[in-house]
Amino acid sequence: MDTDGSSRRGVILGGLALGLTAPACAQAQPRIRPDLYNGELDYLSKEFPGRAEDLSASITIAGASEPGERMAISGRCLSWQDGKPAAGVIVYAYHTDTTGSYAGGPRGTRHARLRGWMRTGADGRYAFTSIKPAPYPDRTMPAHIHFIVLEPNRRPYWIDDIVFNGEFKVDATYRTAMELRGGDGIIPLRKTNTIWTGARDIKLERHPA
Ligand SMILES: [Fe+2]
Repeated sequence: MDTDGSSRRGVILGGLALGLTAPACAQAQPRIRPDLYNGELDYLSKEFPGRAEDLSASITIAGASEPGERMAISGRCLSWQDGKPAAGVIVYAYHTDTTGSYAGGPRGTRHARLRGWMRTGADGRYAFTSIKPAPYPDRTMPAHIHFIVLEPNRRPYWIDDIVFNGEFKVDATYRTAMELRGGDGIIPLRKTNTIWTGARDIKLERHPA
């Protein structure tokens, strides 16, 4: 079971392909990360609850019976080329419960009990409701939400976790170690009535040709 994704940290943040001397009209292109496909993730395609084409853009990961504060996360998947919404992108998210545990997932699966898959429509949007996760019991990491992205006809890849700005261990050290895969994963949470809400757009990564 993946525990924290920490092995994915420490990669030097990529510089843009063009420097300060590039003509103003030139478009900076993101580099292709040499370790973009940095995990054995292909098995995920075998775990969809049905056909990938039938996945919804908006799901419930944890229902009302799950202990914890209610949380709603949403965002858009955006093309690295033009920033436009990307359709047909599968977003897989999972996180701990209020005790900081992943335990209790379906037999034979690698990840958390609290998890789900979404697939973006033409507007590029994904959304899920769940409960607000807690840090691991050993308090080694902030509370976080893992994400794996699967674009059409591409291999899946990790992006930076969502963590909550201003909370436990979301500090300068954490920021320094960020890889910015899929863009910035540090998001503010705001409480509306009884629900924590947050937004994270996903900047899709550039793939090898
Ligand atoms: Fe984790």
